[in-house]
Amino acid sequence: MASPPLSEPAKPHALLIPYPAQGHVNPFLKLAKALHARGFHVTFVHTEYNHGRLLRARGAGAFDVAGAEGLRFETIPDGLPPSGLDATQDIWALCEATRRTGPAAVRALVERLDRTDGVPPVSCVVADGAMGYAVHVAKEMGLPAYLFFTHSACGFVAYLNFDQLVMRGYVPFKDESCFTNGYLDTPVDWMGGMLPGARLRDLPTFIRTTDPDDTMLTIIIKQCELDAPVADGILLNTFDDLERRALDATRARLPNTFTVGPLGPDVYPPSYLPSLTSSLWRDDERCAAWLDGSGFGAASVVYVNFGSITVVTSEQMDEFAWGLAASGCPFLWVVRPDMVRDGGAAGSGWALPEGFAEAVGARGLTVGWCDQEAVLEHPATGGFLSHCGWNSTLESLRAGVPLLCWPFFSEQVTNARYACVEWGVGLEMPRDVGRAQVEAAVRELMAADDGRGAAARRRAAEWKEKAKAAVAPGGSSRDNLERFVQEIASRAAASAKSGRVL
Ligand code: UDX
Repeated sequence: MASPPLSEPAKPHALLIPYPAQGHVNPFLKLAKALHARGFHVTFVHTEYNHGRLLRARGAGAFDVAGAEGLRFETIPDGLPPSGLDATQDIWALCEATRRTGPAAVRALVERLDRTDGVPPVSCVVADGAMGYAVHVAKEMGLPAYLFFTHSACGFVAYLNFDQLVMRGYVPFKDESCFTNGYLDTPVDWMGGMLPGARLRDLPTFIRTTDPDDTMLTIIIKQCELDAPVADGILLNTFDDLERRALDATRARLPNTFTVGPLGPDVYPPSYLPSLTSSLWRDDERCAAWLDGSGFGAASVVYVNFGSITVVTSEQMDEFAWGLAASGCPFLWVVRPDMVRDGGAAGSGWALPEGFAEAVGARGLTVGWCDQEAVLEHPATGGFLSHCGWNSTLESLRAGVPLLCWPFFSEQVTNARYACVEWGVGLEMPRDVGRAQVEAAVRELMAADDGRGAAARRRAAEWKEKAKAAVAPGGSSRDNLERFVQEIASRAAASAKSGRVL
């Protein structure tokens, strides 16, 4: 590591509080490893619900920190009624509940940790941007506080402009006709930091509301206007070369912004705490063997995964199934057990259509969850049909794999637009995509000729190099990470000297 480990008496203690969803706990665990590898005591906070899910998915190994002195897990409630389901929680309800019940829980946790023998006092809080309330708790307790927004910088710039969208009268929408009457094509050229030609439809889907008191709209405006400016700094899991325009606009508002991505094994030793993962579902271990042993050529398999939140109808799943079958392309398709909820409850929905298994034979593997980064890094993987969640997008860029973009919600639409137009690594798919379009899009992405697929592959290969350079020693993200480490370590030392009032 570039920074030497900090000496024992000065050991700072970072309290990491991710928003309790898969796309947030993953980058937070990577940050935890990066800090721990640099000599920090780290407490990682899960919700009780996710703690239970991790135990079910992985057993006690999920929290096995043997040999990693000074890395610990704690839990807080999420404020929702208890549930034993293994499914993604309602994002809207969860945002509201964590914001309501989180402050008291975080305060009580810090007080308890400070009384725990053998644990250095908490010296800084790094909370998820979606848990922005924690900044105020930390400040009240005299602690430095940073916010880690786990989405893209382009998504963040859009969120930072939500108040402007309201003030300028774009949002809330006048009525429901605005969803379909072309209103979404309204340009938002005035929005500094966005790509040229950006339209309302390229902004996070939380603007698509007619309700002036919409929960997500209100919470996001609070995060950007009330929480982020109070934080001592902002972390983003991206890199400067990728999102320079959006980052300039972000830093104009929030100067102490650290770009530290793509977080991952480049910023801690590769063999560092390998069993410590944060997948809330159990990986299907057949994937690696299937990719290794099926005799597929290099970059010939299309990987299909819509992340941890996307919910799809049975009809849409049938279209994907038959489109993949007709493409003739080998594919690895992840169908999350809670992905189809036609009947309301998770897991109630969908089975592979009759005749599908016979039609695809050994050319297709369908699983419930996989080790995505391993799949993307596998030489047989040549394309990613994705919902463009930020982690998936960044993991794909880091692996040099081009994208077929089928965004579902939030700033996934922004990421998809950037992937296709700005970074040149993606081909866009329409929302109501039918089997013929799925087939054509997969064929186009994977085609050997010198068409749009090949162009996306070339650009993806270039971004792979730039992503790796950013986190290599001397790279922009690596420098930012080391600067962040030094900053919180020296703040911790200063607050230890002056003593803080609880
Ligand atoms: C999304 C996006 O994070 C975010 O951009 C948006 O604001 C909210 O929702 P999600 O659907 O979880 O969340 O997507 P993504 O960001 O891509 O995160 C999924 C994570 O789970 C990735 O790190 C991916 O590697 C991992 N994953 C997913 C697996 O390990 N295995 C799987 O089978 C599927």
